[in-house]
Amino acid sequence: MKKVTKAIFPVAGLGTRFLPATKSIPKEIMTLVDRPLIQYAIDEARAAGIKEFIFVTARGKSALEDYFDIAPELENTLRKKGKTELLQTLKSTNMDSGEIAYIRQNKAMGLGHAVWCARRLMGNEPFAVILPDDVIAAEKPCLQQMMEAHAEIGGNMVAAMEVPKEKTSSYGVLGVQQDMGSVVSVNDMVEKPAVEDAPSNLAVIGRYILTPNVMRNLNKAKSGSGGEVQLTDAIAQEIGASGDVYGFRFRGQRYDCGSKAGFLQATVAFGLAREDLRDEFSDFIDSMVAAKTAAQ
Ligand code: G1P
Repeated sequence: MKKVTKAIFPVAGLGTRFLPATKSIPKEIMTLVDRPLIQYAIDEARAAGIKEFIFVTARGKSALEDYFDIAPELENTLRKKGKTELLQTLKSTNMDSGEIAYIRQNKAMGLGHAVWCARRLMGNEPFAVILPDDVIAAEKPCLQQMMEAHAEIGGNMVAAMEVPKEKTSSYGVLGVQQDMGSVVSVNDMVEKPAVEDAPSNLAVIGRYILTPNVMRNLNKAKSGSGGEVQLTDAIAQEIGASGDVYGFRFRGQRYDCGSKAGFLQATVAFGLAREDLRDEFSDFIDSMVAAKTAAQ
């Protein structure tokens, strides 16, 4: 099986849930503590062995390109001031020339369409897809866990997580054929089903390892749920066809940073996880909770 070294990052979304902030900044640049969302996705991909990073962007996303470029003035200033640690932090965000590519999605036609926009760069190779809105805190990064499982069983693999039944209509949902613990084989996959039609409460989370066949399916894709071209549908076509489809229950905590509540939860969790902030921040949270309890 060919090693997976390419990852697609669909980042063309308008981020309307975060207006007015996203009027002038891409939502992927919004920061959790001091790092933009996209940095977490890139770090996770690198840890999993990804060497080529393909961004599917849109108008108004140029801040993302600048973020991964070198910043000579800033680097010089930090060097002159002897701020070595900050300089290292800054440099760790630079991408080598040729390591990163940007493709434009001209029209917002759905996640499947966004992935398909990168088809010419993928060749006939398996590839990963990371949705940066889904931030996953884990001892071993989620995509790395998946790569290890994928190296054993192959096929198509999606990250999966149990969600409350009434939330299934917000996700791609898996039908479980055989439950092997962390890996499940899948016999159905439905994008945003009505709650009563959901085949289970095992939801797809934004990490995928896919075969080139899925890209071929996207060539012929028709619009699905919400009138958009769905990645879920292109993967579902592989069920029982040439490749298998697996769900992978990752070990870690997922935050839905595409929603305000999820973003705030991630901010608190990542703030508390930081040694340099933990004490001051947890004192503050304790005092907020105490004040709220006293007021009740
Ligand atoms: C996308 C996918 C969906 C998946 C979800 C995970 O939906 O289409 O299958 O469950 O990400 O976050 P979105 O949240 O972009 O509407």
